[in-house]
Amino acid sequence: MVEAMTGGITEAVKINATIASAVEELGLGMGVGSQRTAIEKPSLEKTFSVVRKNAPTAFLIANIGGPQLVKGYSAKEAKMAVDMINADALAIHLNALQEIVQPEGETSFKGVLNKIGEIAQALDVPVIVKETGAGIAAEEAKQLVSMKVVGIDVAGVGGTSWAAVEYHRAKKKHDEFHQGLGKAFWDWGVPTAMSLIESLQSVSITVIASGGIRTGIDVAKALALGADLTGMAHPILLAATKGPKEVKKTLQVAIESLRNAMFLVGAESLPKMREVPLVITGKTAEWLKMRGFQPEIYAKRSLRKKEMI
Ligand SMILES: Cc1cc2nc3c(=O)[nH]c(=O)nc-3n(C[C@H](O)[C@H](O)[C@H](O)COP(=O)(O)O)c2cc1C
Repeated sequence: MVEAMTGGITEAVKINATIASAVEELGLGMGVGSQRTAIEKPSLEKTFSVVRKNAPTAFLIANIGGPQLVKGYSAKEAKMAVDMINADALAIHLNALQEIVQPEGETSFKGVLNKIGEIAQALDVPVIVKETGAGIAAEEAKQLVSMKVVGIDVAGVGGTSWAAVEYHRAKKKHDEFHQGLGKAFWDWGVPTAMSLIESLQSVSITVIASGGIRTGIDVAKALALGADLTGMAHPILLAATKGPKEVKKTLQVAIESLRNAMFLVGAESLPKMREVPLVITGKTAEWLKMRGFQPEIYAKRSLRKKEMI
């Protein structure tokens, strides 16, 4: 899927329309960026609703932020976000890292877990909780399950870094204070591979791998680890700024690379990817062992070879 990115600004209409047309054609899913702006100013709704217009059958995910829940959003606003794009699911994003490095950041997350629970109970579409580039650890995954959340999008460290984004924004404004904060927290968080494995070995709900997924081979690795879905954000935004052809090409190369990786390991279906032996070494293995997870289980499994011949 294409991960949540934009909406609420004039330029977003074109970007969202372009991405939506490509995901519809290629049979993928898509998330929209935070819908806060349009919930508060309905004239901006079309910057989001264009997505459903161009992707009438694709799996679409609405988006609101954890800090807004703390500030008073309830099921009413969550439903508004879902209805705006006739969404198939709602994502609530957690972005504590981004908020601390942003000059205008909203750093209160008090009570956010219970608010997530209220919304998950009230909505008739599935509720997913996603990070935005700092990852989700096992302890958080378990807490989210206790709140009846049915999906987690790990969005771990390794791709877009909001601390880096804020560093560059602060630099432009000659704001050395926030530049310093951005630099200090540049790669803070749980890396995507570790976040994915921690979540998959701790809970049994849908887990989406994202954060630095850049190629079809990254997608193949995440699926082999057990991810139910994978998501890409930044590369698709870059492509969208170049036009519809570039978006389609970027996604098609990723899809074809995944198919080829499956061919090369002898997995004839996506579920079969979970049987492919996968060797985890180095820092990732060390991390997992220290945290009480088992990196070796992936290396010892085997795809039934006779089915290949
Ligand atoms: C330009 C941009 C805007 C984003 N805006 C949102 C947002 O509004 N809501 C959200 O949940 N995540 C947002 N994200 C985070 C992405 O959905 C994704 O989780 C994260 O960027 C990791 O993926 P990547 O490394 O492929 O970029 C944004 C990412 C980018 C690059």
